Amino acid sequence: MTPRRPEISASILNADFGRLGAEVERAVRGGVDSIHLDVMDGHFVDNISLGPVVVEALRPYAAVPYHSHLMISRPLRYVDEFARAGSDLIVFHVEAEDPAEAVIEQIHRSGRGAGIALNPETPLEAVLPHLEAVDLVLVMTVHPGFGGQALLPEVLPKVSALQAELQRRGLDTPIGIDGGLNLETIAAAYAAGGTILVAGSALYAHQGELAPVVEELRTAARDGTAARREPAESRR
Ligand code: DX5
Ligand code: ZN
Repeated sequence: MTPRRPEISASILNADFGRLGAEVERAVRGGVDSIHLDVMDGHFVDNISLGPVVVEALRPYAAVPYHSHLMISRPLRYVDEFARAGSDLIVFHVEAEDPAEAVIEQIHRSGRGAGIALNPETPLEAVLPHLEAVDLVLVMTVHPGFGGQALLPEVLPKVSALQAELQRRGLDTPIGIDGGLNLETIAAAYAAGGTILVAGSALYAHQGELAPVVEELRTAARDGTAARREPAESRR
């Protein structure tokens, strides 16, 4: 099975919150495939970030898909508001208080894609019952709440196991990887099976235009994998 193209999803959590519209535009000019909006309620995680009103305010700044990553305890209460605000994909946590089936159903009823996320300490078994129903599985490679953390490499075998299970079931559901992705870690994340690769501080640590770093990240993902799978002469 040829690996899917690595997609770079820009997390704005480490962007300049005083100029978020311009920061979204900068990421899109840089060629990112989607915008990753980290929503935190100060209860599910020990931080508070942004709500539907911010997603709505940012929607006109980009045409690429908006992935709202809900790190909140009661996603069912807010699905419709994030859908109306302009999210294309709404990702909730399997560890949240609401039953996953109900959240997935509500997201689909709102006409959006449903993503399910699991924390580093959560076993893969927690999401297996939902694989047929979701449009993305987001594997956290940091403990949620803050950008700029180091990727936890011990999570990557879980990504490989998830990829194997999806293939066994004949599902082409993409795997997202979120947390600590940079030039040093992105190849292993992509090789493990992640194709929606969230980058926050790896992008917004740079002040200028982002195209070079976005391309570097994508190439590092692809070449890191290619080096292990194909002889050099076949690479173009
Ligand atoms: C953490 C968020 C991640 C994070 C990514 O709770 O879900 O999206 O902001 O930021 P970096 O890429 O800096 O780890
Ligand atoms: Zn996130």
